[in-house]
Amino acid sequence: MVKFNRRQFIALGTAGMGLALVNNWLGQETISSHPLAQSFANSAPVYHSSNGLLELKLEAQESLVKLGNKQAYRLTYNGQIPAPRLEAKPGDKVRIHFTNNLAQPTNIHYHGLQIPITGNADNVFLKIKPGKTLTYEFQIPANHPSGTFWYHPHLHGLVAEQLFGGLAGLFVVRGEIDEIPEIKAAQEEFLVLQDFAINNGGRRLSSAHMSLMMGREGKVITVNGNINPSISFPSKGLLRLRILNASPSRFYRLTLEDHTFYQIATDGNSLNKPIEIRELLLTPGQRADVLVKGDKKSGQYRLLNLPYDRGSMGMMGGRGMMGGRGMMGRNQRDVPMTLATVNYKSAVESLALPTKLTSISPLPQADTIRRFELNHGMNMNPYVGMAFLINGKPYNSDHIHTQVRLNTVEDRDIVNIGVMDHPFHIHGNAFQVISRNGQPESLLAWRDTVLVKRGETVRIRIPFRDFAGKTVYHCHILDHEDLGMMGNLMIKA
Ligand code: C2O
Ligand code: CU
Ligand code: CU
Repeated sequence: MVKFNRRQFIALGTAGMGLALVNNWLGQETISSHPLAQSFANSAPVYHSSNGLLELKLEAQESLVKLGNKQAYRLTYNGQIPAPRLEAKPGDKVRIHFTNNLAQPTNIHYHGLQIPITGNADNVFLKIKPGKTLTYEFQIPANHPSGTFWYHPHLHGLVAEQLFGGLAGLFVVRGEIDEIPEIKAAQEEFLVLQDFAINNGGRRLSSAHMSLMMGREGKVITVNGNINPSISFPSKGLLRLRILNASPSRFYRLTLEDHTFYQIATDGNSLNKPIEIRELLLTPGQRADVLVKGDKKSGQYRLLNLPYDRGSMGMMGGRGMMGGRGMMGRNQRDVPMTLATVNYKSAVESLALPTKLTSISPLPQADTIRRFELNHGMNMNPYVGMAFLINGKPYNSDHIHTQVRLNTVEDRDIVNIGVMDHPFHIHGNAFQVISRNGQPESLLAWRDTVLVKRGETVRIRIPFRDFAGKTVYHCHILDHEDLGMMGNLMIKA
């Protein structure tokens, strides 16, 4: 039985689910038409703010859901995979009445949002026990960038397991970029990329059966909870794909047959102008907005996930090697996989691309440079065998690893001396990449997660601008985070 909280969500399973009834907490049901309804039968409902307030109930629970053509027990918010999409505007208030009906404690992190990191806001040190309720409440600053953000659990030690269970949803801030005429004219599609491991009973695989050292991956790859969904090209040919990698460890290297992408945003932030790319690499945690021109002949084009080698433990691993490259021989990582199919029903007329998106200014010189060395090492825990370290130490919740002052700019040299790639993420403070292995970075962009490949040194520049308090930085391969590759950051007013 699919478990729905009575007041939350009622899905109408008619052809393509043209309409979803979305409850708006006060108990009134509003009908929201869903632009993806035709192409993505499994799309989650959307909650929009109105009159400056986004208010909803969110319940984490185990539910029986449909993933592709399988029934599976997953961890869900409001019974949905992916979780409901939340949409608000800069300046809006957000109030989320959250109930934890999982068997474990949890909490919610608002990835990429620049909001308070203390109290009942983006506070990853909150711990909500099973059966307990907490109301998250915060205001999105009036000058907040518009873009693609997301929410997921962040209780240290359980992050990978809960995200892999399915707990992830989009948090979209609507604003300037959506008003650019060429972008407004494009058809918008959200793609939430998640992978899952499903056993024969439709249950989740326990952590004991996965490679935690490489970071857990599942064989079932879904886009908005569907396997190879089709995306119909609009009659005026410009498509805006807003893509989130919500997998705990899997990297996606995306390409669309015969087409190029015009990237307009990195993580939640617009670029100065579109940049043309053939492939898009998205590490866990990262987002990208791309435009696709429909100027090829009518037909079907596959959105492919190309192989990517993110390193391996080689001979060093213990139990964690199970499921890794070594023991399984050739695995999915070695062959392109179709994630979705884009259809042209008929030849389409191509729309113009925008020429200017925003203006990013380079940051001033940093006040301080610090070095973070990423590596792995031995762990006292024989079951895991391995710990993940920053500057030689695993995470210690009682320790302040880095202290900075508000209204300063700092550089970090993130040095990967290990044998696997690590996507490095900082909460609540977007940054610019300055250089990679000493080579200046040519693309001026804001990010919240950056890939540091094995052997690389990446210098990033971070302004600590808005909010004081304690938060974290970590590797966004969430098993690495849970196994210690995280630090506490204290921002002093
Ligand atoms: Cu997606 Cu600590 O974050
Ligand atoms: Cu985050
Ligand atoms: Cu890592």
